[in-house]
Amino acid sequence: MNDITTREDVEYLVKEFYGQVIKDDLIGFFFTDIAKIDLIKHLPKMYNFWESILLGNPVYEGNPMRVHFPLNEVTALEEKHFNRWLQVWEKTVHDNFEGDIAETAITRALNIGRIMNHKMANARIR
Ligand code: HEM
Repeated sequence: MNDITTREDVEYLVKEFYGQVIKDDLIGFFFTDIAKIDLIKHLPKMYNFWESILLGNPVYEGNPMRVHFPLNEVTALEEKHFNRWLQVWEKTVHDNFEGDIAETAITRALNIGRIMNHKMANARIR
């Protein structure tokens, strides 16, 4: 297995992840029923996000935290949801890639997920 080194690798990883997460019994509905995401528009944002983080090319423009607050208002985005998201991400990374950048993909998602979880919980007690 190879490490994540190209835009193609990033696209492959993100596509595989979405294939799983969208049909997930615990969190799939956030994508399909709450946000009703259009994958044609959504996936390129995710490719750019992860290309920026993993390959160091600053192609993502946006605010990854902000888009989650409206979801959290419809249905609380709780720790169990983040844990599942991260579990699916980790499995997708490990099923397809091996190396330092693959490990970075997992640790960065874990850190961002933790922060996001706290922000969502704080927003609910205001
Ligand atoms: C339970 C966990 C999560 C759920 C259910 C979730 C769900 C979603 C949904 C439905 C969208 C699309 C929102 C919209 O366009 O209306 C979205 C966007 C996004 N999510 Fe998450 N997410 C979760 C965790 C994470 C984590 C941990 C990360 C980062 C490591 C992340 C990164 C992003 C990014 C970068 C976008 C695109 C932002 C943009 O439009 O610029 N998400 N998420």
